Amino acid sequence: MPSLSCKMRIIMEQTQIKRIVLGLTGGIAAYKAAELSRLLMKQDVEVQVAMTEAACHFITPATMQALTGRPVLVNQWDAAENGMAHIDTSRAADAIVIAPATADFIAKLAHGLADDLLSTLCLARDCPLLLAPAMNRQMWANAATQRNIAQLISDGVQVLGPASGMQACGEEGMGRMLEAGELASEITAFLNSAPLSTTLTPTLSRLRERELDCLKILITAGPTYEAIDAVRGITNRSSGKMGYAVAQAALELGADVTLVSGPTSLDRPSGAKVVDVTSAAEMFEAVKQRAEDTNIFIGVAAVADYRVAQPSEQKIKKSESADKLTLELIPNPDILAYVANLPKPPFCVGFAAESENLRGFAAAKRKAKKIPLLAANLAQQAIGSDDNDLILFDDAGEHVLPHADKLTLARALLQHIIRLRKK
Ligand code: CTP
Repeated sequence: MPSLSCKMRIIMEQTQIKRIVLGLTGGIAAYKAAELSRLLMKQDVEVQVAMTEAACHFITPATMQALTGRPVLVNQWDAAENGMAHIDTSRAADAIVIAPATADFIAKLAHGLADDLLSTLCLARDCPLLLAPAMNRQMWANAATQRNIAQLISDGVQVLGPASGMQACGEEGMGRMLEAGELASEITAFLNSAPLSTTLTPTLSRLRERELDCLKILITAGPTYEAIDAVRGITNRSSGKMGYAVAQAALELGADVTLVSGPTSLDRPSGAKVVDVTSAAEMFEAVKQRAEDTNIFIGVAAVADYRVAQPSEQKIKKSESADKLTLELIPNPDILAYVANLPKPPFCVGFAAESENLRGFAAAKRKAKKIPLLAANLAQQAIGSDDNDLILFDDAGEHVLPHADKLTLARALLQHIIRLRKK
């Protein structure tokens, strides 16, 4: 019979108790940290909370202390017994998780600042650091924040989210912290070094590996605009968000990204080479010049299938006598089909936006274009929205990705591409 202490040790080993430092910074999403700590503890994760002064304005240390059963660290001058709280605390942890991570705190981390207990703890750590960003959509999209995030990712920091949706400020967009349940499952998957999950949130081990390092990825995004005359044209309602999200996800994995973009109002993904084009013909030229020197081509653009045969240089005037105006349209080149038919084509991925019979049309389109992978979505759901549903079609059949924001879907798409290329 094993002794009681031996039994305890066996139980500890079986359940693999993990310890994290949960850092809270000053954002409204701090309230979600209460639920997060509860969920983690339910899964046998020991949680030591550390809060910035600003975080204490959103949730009290007393709440976090009551939930975790441990005194909360706030002040760097309230030192542990030997006065080295910033060192000791991280040494005992398997990871530090900052949730919520504000834009200000992310900037601090990116620059190695250490002017309070939590930032000092992060700088002095010898364990992984995970961040769950939470901020207003403009703050998230700001070039400075994107630069800081890219820097932290390249330093090996793991970034979870953010998600898109309604924000506390009343605006809608990217920057909302992931929900407590999503964070808890990512964190426990990370702590237990789970194999690549099929969840859509950015599984940490994937990001850490930067699996697209040094690979060239060429992406088309947005609509094209085909002139009718000097002021009018034919276009479609693509916002470009999906293509830009694919570019962002590829950058996170270390790829060398070229984004050939039709007219959009989106901020450029920092780190990508962006080639601005207007018409399908211009997009075709830009792709032709680069397609032979790329490893992966992803056609996300909604390319106009036809253009006006003879666009007018001047504005066409209304004619009193004519009761109708006929435009002659001629077909545009199929950019994706051209790339897929090169003698040595890159790995080609297409997108299909359908308004009906999604599965039937998408599967037929993949075959017709002779491409290994096609991502299909319903146009009425996808256009302009931050969220989407995608179905991936490949030789093995179809793979339905759960509803998610476009960046999350883009990350899942890239993981699928990586798996197919490995095969
Ligand atoms: N595509 C392209 N060049 C075109 C038309 C489409 O590269 N002239 C690419 C898109 O970027 C997308 C895929 O082909 O990856 C599917 O585009 P879609 O317009 O849905 O397919 P079409 O072949 O044009 O079929 P249809 O318009 O009849 O649905």
